[in-house]
Amino acid sequence: MIHRYWLAQYGIDGAYEKEAVKPEDLPGFLQQLWTHGYIGANVTLPHKEAALRAARSADEAAMTIGAANTLWLDPDGALHAANTDAYGFMTNLSTEAPQWNAGAGAVLVLGAGGAARAILYGLLAVGVPKVLLANRTKARAETLAAVFGPRVEVIDWAARNAALADCGLLVNATSLGMTGQEKLDIDLSAMPRDGVVADIVYVPLETELLAAARVQGLARVDGLGMLLHQAVPGFERWFGVRPEVTPELKAHVMATLGEE
Ligand code: ATR
Repeated sequence: MIHRYWLAQYGIDGAYEKEAVKPEDLPGFLQQLWTHGYIGANVTLPHKEAALRAARSADEAAMTIGAANTLWLDPDGALHAANTDAYGFMTNLSTEAPQWNAGAGAVLVLGAGGAARAILYGLLAVGVPKVLLANRTKARAETLAAVFGPRVEVIDWAARNAALADCGLLVNATSLGMTGQEKLDIDLSAMPRDGVVADIVYVPLETELLAAARVQGLARVDGLGMLLHQAVPGFERWFGVRPEVTPELKAHVMATLGEE
């Protein structure tokens, strides 16, 4: 939907298609990408780790995150990989909450899956001094802390509300609050008044977390912006135009999500 919108917007004679590929078929599919008519691809769950393994080279984000979402063929037919999720999250954050200061204090991140991994990479790259990481399964958070080093401090899932007192940014990187999932149980009352609350969930666009942040007068960053911004580097790579994330694109995607 995003890429097709931009293809039409910029008058580019290109195509962006969906392909269902079984995990066991992915390496073969990627080897034959050109034969299938493609110059590149996005991959999503559960293919992100295997896509990285299949590539000849990868950017630093993909290597550190251990997963790729954007692929392209060079003129020699070699496959290259990037991870644009961290870029998408951070660009959306700085666009929607420009007042947030990376160096000013701690960030609380909830979750320890692939999304949390990308967000940790992005936060640490812009100089956040400390990330408090809480996950229901603490061992998964500890695995991430071991990858990302001493700026990541694992806290108990039960300590999340109290931890907010020291945090200028809260990020929900779990699937909690998504339509059809359990709700995210969190109390924002300890958060500083100039705090920012970001959610990666975008169905519904205004999650209960973001509604609670509104009630508290906290700044908010929704999850759809991350999805839109992560698409920018791939489109530029494939089609040669750096596309813009506009309110019109966001409205277009929201209208279509609403129909599903
Ligand atoms: P992704 O790669 O998209 O981030 P994931 O690896 O399935 O997806 O991660 C989902 C995240 O939501 C995890 O942090 C998960 O916590 P666990 O590691 O304990 O599974 C979190 N999550 C999902 N359901 C949850 C629930 N009911 N309570 C707390 N956390 C939950």
